[in-house]
Amino acid sequence: MSRNSHLFVVLGATGDLFSRKLLPAIFSLVVDHQAEITVLGAATSDLDEATFQAASRSDLAAAGKSGADSEKWCDHFLHYEKIPTDGDYSNLAQRIQQLEQQHDLAGNRIFYLALPPRVFPVAIQRLGQAGLTRSPGWTRLVIEKPFGRDLQSARRLNSIVHRNFDESQVYRIDHYLGKETVQNLLVFRFSNPIFEASWNRDRIDRVEITVAESLGVGERGGYYDRAGALRDMIQNHLTQILTLVAMETPVVFEADAIRDEKVKVLRSIREINPDHVVLGQYTAGRVDDEPMPAYVDAPDVAGDSQTPTFAAIRLELDSWRWQGVPFYLRTGKAMKERTTQIAVTFRRPPVCIFHGRADSCIDQSDVLFLTLQPDEGFSLEIEVKEPGESGRLRTIPLRFSYSEAFGDIPEAYETLLADVMEGDQTLFVRSDEVEEAWRLYTPLVDTPGEPHPYPAGSWGPEAALDLLGPDVTNWATELL
Ligand code: BG6
Repeated sequence: MSRNSHLFVVLGATGDLFSRKLLPAIFSLVVDHQAEITVLGAATSDLDEATFQAASRSDLAAAGKSGADSEKWCDHFLHYEKIPTDGDYSNLAQRIQQLEQQHDLAGNRIFYLALPPRVFPVAIQRLGQAGLTRSPGWTRLVIEKPFGRDLQSARRLNSIVHRNFDESQVYRIDHYLGKETVQNLLVFRFSNPIFEASWNRDRIDRVEITVAESLGVGERGGYYDRAGALRDMIQNHLTQILTLVAMETPVVFEADAIRDEKVKVLRSIREINPDHVVLGQYTAGRVDDEPMPAYVDAPDVAGDSQTPTFAAIRLELDSWRWQGVPFYLRTGKAMKERTTQIAVTFRRPPVCIFHGRADSCIDQSDVLFLTLQPDEGFSLEIEVKEPGESGRLRTIPLRFSYSEAFGDIPEAYETLLADVMEGDQTLFVRSDEVEEAWRLYTPLVDTPGEPHPYPAGSWGPEAALDLLGPDVTNWATELL
């Protein structure tokens, strides 16, 4: 028996998340990291094991992981158990014991809730009732986002989790935290004093975090129409990025030290002024030269839906470091381009001595672009004198590209699942963190207001520009 063997129990294993993300990531861990993983897929569908294995073989092939190794692994290490819609999980508990004997496993179990969020509470309770929250080895619970729909439901869900599991067993996933470029924010800030020394209100004018997606809502209208941009992206992915950009230096590089600092950032954010929020919804347009129908014409979306597919918010942090520096969060579907980027605009020189040589003194702000995807890397835009008589100033980027330096980078889910197996909670969201984020956005999701229309393929509603104030002509990300 190997003490490093694991049983991954995926609840909701017939869904898209398992086939597209989890299965390929688990298989990569088996192949690239020699992880000893047995998978028990569980769902309410009446499937036999051979059918589940065959479907998984084609899912792996679709993810570019075909071949004899993957087929052999699916046939030996993938299992399936039907779970009842209404009954308890006693059959699941028995099957787990039987598989642990069959594969000579050490009793280390990961329960992954790849389920629709409305069934999280009941699934957690049933795991508890079936005695599955403890095991001969360790037991860990992985919960997908969204964790709750607002502060009240997140608190309720946390209390169900804590009645059954200890917080040290719980891994709330935000897959953005698994992206290399997001993790690199901490390295960038805390091992390059050249930037950290300027990372404050004295040197920084404003920070923009943009997650623009060129895809529309696609086939996910049923989920998305109840979520919208605030619940789907702002409360989690963008806010997580914000905490990493704004946090203080943790005393050590350990999960709770880092998460303590992230929570402090969330607590420092002032109640959001409704005038600092612009919501939008895409109308028909063209993206990448292809026509895209309006959001309200997407499958499973109500014809009179007011769900926002775009949100831009100005946040203010009451902290020593960030007082007076606006942080803008902006995200949208069906936008002009797919880009996730942090733009840090530094203060311009206190006195402009290059009149007539720069287009305007406002343009003399240096901007640091941290591009999280695609074209991962960063660029620092600085002013340079053009050679020759004119003596004009030009903005030139100093660039770093991940792919040029390192080639391919691992998938977020691979990193996160490896961390769950290691028991490292650094990249997972703690209960107080998720509640603080909901405290901030609950008033907005309760009364979101009417969204501004914007054509698919644009950068969102024009009204969002007004958030930037009179001195700023455009979002830094669009000026690239
Ligand atoms: C998911 C959202 O969490 O993140 C989706 O539910 C969104 O709506 C996706 O498209 C974006 O993730 P990524 O990794 O493609 O930027």
